[in-house]
Amino acid sequence: MFASTSKAFFYLLSQSTTLKNAASRYGMRKPSGFARRFIAGETIDDAIEAARVIESQRLMLTLDLLGESVSSLAQADAATREYLRMVDAIIASGIGRNLSLKLTQLGLDVDKASTIDNLRKILERAEPAGFFVRMDMESSAYTDVTLDIFETLWQQSYRQIGIVLQAALRRSEQDLVRINALGARIRLVKGAYREPKSIAYQKKSEVDASFARMLKTLLANGNYPAIATHDLAMIDLARQWAADQNIAKDRFEFQMLYGIHRDFQAMLVREGYRVRVYVPFGREWFPYFMRRLGERPANVLFVLRGIASG
Ligand code: FDA
Repeated sequence: MFASTSKAFFYLLSQSTTLKNAASRYGMRKPSGFARRFIAGETIDDAIEAARVIESQRLMLTLDLLGESVSSLAQADAATREYLRMVDAIIASGIGRNLSLKLTQLGLDVDKASTIDNLRKILERAEPAGFFVRMDMESSAYTDVTLDIFETLWQQSYRQIGIVLQAALRRSEQDLVRINALGARIRLVKGAYREPKSIAYQKKSEVDASFARMLKTLLANGNYPAIATHDLAMIDLARQWAADQNIAKDRFEFQMLYGIHRDFQAMLVREGYRVRVYVPFGREWFPYFMRRLGERPANVLFVLRGIASG
């Protein structure tokens, strides 16, 4: 109950242009801007620098150029060009070749066909270079269309792509069966968006139960699934279930967000698990940052302390 109220509150704040402008002025200041705990920086060079540190700890990574909900095709084209530059910069840097992106960043609110064209442009440069490209899942307004675009590209033989399913949505267990049957790679998350009761579980216990069921199905039948959570109980369940079912540690990976449970990420690696860190960067960091605050209001204290000491 509290979690969904705080998600709603921070969602409302994330829509505030005044707050966004004020935050943008201070949040990413070097070295101690308050948003830097969760966001690797504003430029690709910042992200590559953070990526090198992550890889030096034997963690893997996926890079996300922050941005969502663009409202014109010109903005979507610009985001696509930025992603293409990012692919080139990643190749030149030698860091891991793995991207995460949001379809509304590529124009989904404006035109579906252009979004697919933009995505294809990125895939055509990234796939031959050995990249894996994950389509993040946005709010439930986009679930059908995101899955539809993913499945269309899959039918067109794009294979270095993956999708995300949100345990909070009641429909996700059925989506999982269909996507698993394709043999596609799924990232399982709880779901970061505030959703209505009619389509989504509201209580943490219900979301966790759904996550646990999906986790077991994915570990047993999925193609190299990603268990993306910071919930230590869910991570323990995955370790236990995999061990009980004789599922090798390299048949799946854990994923966590940049800046959260860093020590625990390193501990899992020491235990022989594969762990990928989701590294967001870019100038459009405000909505992402507010979702992180909404998930754990204690983060607000961390931010306030950062502002006070800066
Ligand atoms: P839960 O919210 O129950 O938190 C469990 C514990 O984790 C907390 O008690 C706290 O200790 C820690 N924790 C969680 N969030 C924290 C935070 N912000 N700061 C500090 N500690 C925190 N969502 C989505 O809708 N679409 C997507 O595509 C993705 N993609 C994605 C990728 C990756 C790699 C991760 C890890 C997560 C996502 N998410 C996402 C976000 C996801 O849906 C969810 O909102 C967050 O992971 C928080 O949920 P937890 O599973 O961590 O559990």
